[in-house]
Amino acid sequence: MVPGARGGGARAAAAGPGLLALLLAVAAPLRLQAEELGDGCGYIVTYEDSGTMTSKNYPGTYPNHTVCEKTIRVPKGKRLILKLGDLDIESQTCASDYLLFTSSSDQYGPYCGSMTVPKELLLNTSEVTVRFESGSHISGRGFLLTYASSDHPDLITCLERANHYLKKEYSKFCPAGCKDIAGDISGNTMDGYRDTSLLCKAAIHAGIIADELGGQISVLQRKGISRYEGVLANGVLSRDGSLSDKRFLFTSNGCSRSLSLEPDRQITASSSWQWENEIGEQVHWSPGQARLQDQGPSWASGDSNNNHKQREWLEIDLGEKKKITGIRTAGSTQSNFNFYVESFVMNFKNNSKWQTYKGIVNNEEKVFQGNSNFRDPVQNNFIPPIVARYVRIVPQKWHQRIALKVELIGCQITQGNDSGNDWHKTSLNTGVSNEREDETIKKPIPSEEIAAGINFIAVAIPSVLLIALLLAGMGIVAAFRKRKEIHMDQLRLRKQAVGSRLNIPLPDISQLSLPSAMTMRRR
Ligand SMILES: *[C@@H]1O[C@H](CO)[C@@H](O)[C@H](O)[C@H]1NC(C)=O
Ligand SMILES: *[C@@H]1O[C@H](CO)[C@@H](O)[C@H](O)[C@H]1NC(C)=O
Ligand SMILES: *[C@@H]1O[C@H](CO)[C@@H](O)[C@H](O)[C@H]1NC(C)=O
Repeated sequence: MVPGARGGGARAAAAGPGLLALLLAVAAPLRLQAEELGDGCGYIVTYEDSGTMTSKNYPGTYPNHTVCEKTIRVPKGKRLILKLGDLDIESQTCASDYLLFTSSSDQYGPYCGSMTVPKELLLNTSEVTVRFESGSHISGRGFLLTYASSDHPDLITCLERANHYLKKEYSKFCPAGCKDIAGDISGNTMDGYRDTSLLCKAAIHAGIIADELGGQISVLQRKGISRYEGVLANGVLSRDGSLSDKRFLFTSNGCSRSLSLEPDRQITASSSWQWENEIGEQVHWSPGQARLQDQGPSWASGDSNNNHKQREWLEIDLGEKKKITGIRTAGSTQSNFNFYVESFVMNFKNNSKWQTYKGIVNNEEKVFQGNSNFRDPVQNNFIPPIVARYVRIVPQKWHQRIALKVELIGCQITQGNDSGNDWHKTSLNTGVSNEREDETIKKPIPSEEIAAGINFIAVAIPSVLLIALLLAGMGIVAAFRKRKEIHMDQLRLRKQAVGSRLNIPLPDISQLSLPSAMTMRRR
C-alpha cells in the first residue's frame, strides 16, 4: 500500500540509525504535546489516510474531569471524512462534557447528551482537531470515531455489522485499528461469518485486511448455516455461533491455495526430537512430519529448554520463488504431548540473505500469535505477502516443547494481483492473461472441492498439451481444443453442482485454469 513510505523509512534507518534515533527522541515528545493532549484519550490507531479513535475506557464509562485533544489529518489536498460510530456523553448542555471538531474554517459541535449528531461529516479541509472533555458524571461510554480521506467515501466504522446491510454484494472501506474494539464475531473464512459479526473485525480475522493498515473489503451475503465454528486467526478469536438467517463471506485475491510440500526434500529443521519409548523403539519427531495435512505426531525440536540462546527453526524450501499469503500452524496434535508454539516470527530468503518479515507501520520484526493448544490449527496472513523460495518459522514462545505442523497458503508469483516480479509475467501474453487474473480477484475463495477441480485440469491439460506440441500438427491442436472444451464442460457442470449445494458462486474455472496450466507447462 505504501511501498514508497516503507522503502523511505528503511533507507533512512540504514543511512544513519544514530541520527534517526536522535531525531525521533527529540521529535516524539514535541509531537505528543502538539497532537495529543490530556488523559481522556483512549485507543488511537492511525495509518496514512484512515484511523480509529475512542475516549478513555471505551466502551466502559469515561473518567471524571478529563480532556482529550488530538489533531488528525489525511494527505494534503484531500478532504477528511469523520464518522461517529458511537456517541454517549452524559450532559444536556454540553457545558463541561462534550465532543467538538475544529478545522481551520469550521467548527462542528459541541455534541453531547441526546442531541442528534450527524453520522458522517465531510469536511473541506484535510485536518481537524478533535476535543473531548468531561466534568463530573455517573455514566456514558464517550465516543468512537473513525476517519478517512475523501478517497474512501464508503468508509464504515469498526462497529458496523453485516446485518446493517441488505445488499447481496457490496464493498466498504475499513479504517485502521478495528481489531481491539469490543464486539463479537463468529464463524471463519471457509464457512463464512454469522451476519451479526462486526464487518471490519471479521475482515481482519479472515486475513483480508491488516489491522494496522485498514483497507477495502468486498462482502457477499449468503443464506445462513446452522452452526458457526469459532477459531483463532490473525490474533482475533471468533466465537462459535448458532443458526442465523444470513451469513457473509469475503472475496479474496485468489492467492489462497495450499502450497504443496514434499516432506523429506522440502522441510528441514535446526534440530529434532528423538527418544526411546517403553518398548525400546526409537521415536523420531522429524521435520518431515511437519505437514499439517498428515496424521500422526508433528515435528518437535530436540531441546525443550525455554531459555536457550540458539533459536530453533523449521525451514521450508518451496522449490521456486512463490507468493506466500498466509500460514496455518498446529501443535503436536497428540493429546499426551501438550506441546505447541505460542508465538513465532517468519524469516525468508530472497536471493542470498535471510531476512525477517517486518510490520509495515513500525518496521519491526512482526511477531505472530500462534497456537493456544496442541490441537487446533491457527491461521495468520501476510499482508503484504512474502515472496520467496525459502521460509523459516522461528518460534519465540512455546508450551513445554517446540512442536509444529504447518501449511503455507499462496500461489505462483504470476497469479493474483500485484506480483512485483516480472520474469514470470513477461513470458505470458500479458494483456489478456492479466485481465483474466483481475477477473478472478473479485471471486470468493474457492472451496476445497473446486481446488481439486483446478488441480485436475492443471495436470490434465499440460500433459495433453505436451503431446500436442511434440506432434506439432495443426489438426492435432484442433482436436485438443475439442477435448479441452469437453473438460471445461464437465467442470462447469461440476461447478454448478457444487455451487448450488454450497449456495455460493464459484470462480469461473476456464479462466482460472488457463494461466495455471501455462505455468505448469513451463516448468
Ligand atoms: C469550506 O471552506 C470555506 C473557506 O475556504 C468556508 O468559507 C466554508 O464555509 C467551508 N464550507 C463548508 C461546508 O465547510
Ligand atoms: C464522578 O464523580 C462523582 C462524584 O464524585 C461520582 O459519583 C462518580 O461515580 C464519578 N464518575 C466516574 C465515572 O468515576
Ligand atoms: C527481493 O529481491 C529483489 C531483487 O533483488 C528486490 O527487488 C526485492 O525488493 C526483494 N524483496 C524483498 C522483500 O526484499
